[in-house]
Amino acid sequence: MIKVGIIGVGTVGTSVVQILRDNSEVISARAGQDIEVKIGVVKNLNKDRGLDIIITDNIDDVLNDEEIDIVVELMGGIEEPFEVVKRALKSGKAVVTANKALLAYHRYELADIAKDIAFEYEASVAGGIPIINALRDGLSANHILSIMGIMNGTCNYMMTEMTNNGVDYDVILKEAQELGYAEADPTFDVGGYDAAHKLLILASIAYGIDAKPEDILIEGIDNVTSEDIDFAKEFGYAIKLLGIAKKDENEVELRVHACLIKKDEMIAKIDGVMNAISVVGDKVGETLYYGPGAGGDATASAVVANIIDIARSGKSTPMLGFDKPMEGKLTLKPTANIESKYYLRINVSDKAGVLAQITKIFEENNISVETMLQRPSLNKSANLLISTHIALEKNIQNMIKELEFLDFVNNRPMMIRIV
Ligand code: HSE
Repeated sequence: MIKVGIIGVGTVGTSVVQILRDNSEVISARAGQDIEVKIGVVKNLNKDRGLDIIITDNIDDVLNDEEIDIVVELMGGIEEPFEVVKRALKSGKAVVTANKALLAYHRYELADIAKDIAFEYEASVAGGIPIINALRDGLSANHILSIMGIMNGTCNYMMTEMTNNGVDYDVILKEAQELGYAEADPTFDVGGYDAAHKLLILASIAYGIDAKPEDILIEGIDNVTSEDIDFAKEFGYAIKLLGIAKKDENEVELRVHACLIKKDEMIAKIDGVMNAISVVGDKVGETLYYGPGAGGDATASAVVANIIDIARSGKSTPMLGFDKPMEGKLTLKPTANIESKYYLRINVSDKAGVLAQITKIFEENNISVETMLQRPSLNKSANLLISTHIALEKNIQNMIKELEFLDFVNNRPMMIRIV
């Protein structure tokens, strides 16, 4: 019998207890033994969760209980769970977590401590999709050429509703929170940080890259307006928040931002809270993983899978997929050197000579226009909607800075990268 202690019995923790109870027969057959949740730690003891486990508000009741084999960390945050998880590992308990923020900052320190003890984290990326398993085990024969995907269900849900039903940003964000998709602080979702945490975890498994959120390009969907959505529709694009990892010879680029993606691409068709991640390996070619990226049961499905795996085998796979460092290590590509096509929305005073001056600044920054459209806007202004050929990130950023300070440019130009 394997005994589990859950630290943080919220939506996901409650689903973990229920799945272990509802599917106990198949789970114990798969695990080779019974699995029982003995204790759950909560902040508020007065709330009835309707679960037949011991409930406490003292983490030590789990960490000091010698009967507990596996600690499931679902408390959220970064430094507090880091201390809790370290204590669990040091006392010989296996750990399962869904905490991507913790891993985005401390995965390498945890991998060091967890050398002989199981530490699993399937639920930390894309909820119910077994992407860690696929990347760490199923694709381990390959050099990973790229990873690209929808890694935040909240943003995808919001963009889908804004595009298909014209729902306002604030209204739809509130709905995503009520449905339990959004993080406790939803700026982690809409600001791109949640997707970045997940991308960093995948990048470690794929490339052995030890990068922190501060090291990579992270933007959210908070600046996307209905004008951008209309442009996207008119030109056959969907707007998606994507996490992207791309390898060239010696460098890997890692970035999270809103993207314009052609409507007939598979990823452009993923709607609602669903996640989808494409992984291209040098030998296997493109593989695609699709499923629910948020929500109690979907996330708990991945947590329970990790518990079963530990019950079966104890510890076998290296936590981040590498048993020793790779020779000829890959390095992180500086953001300034990223190359992409770009969409720009520039709100300008609608008067003679403006267009000529704008195009001159494009030329000076070595940026070539692919399409250009002008739409009348409020108070004798116009929106210039421009897409570019492939350009360098540093040139685009420099050009935006120059445009922003011209007196006939009314706001900071909006930019979305085109995939
Ligand atoms: N807030 C996250 C999302 C939950 O919307 O995808 C799953 O990590």
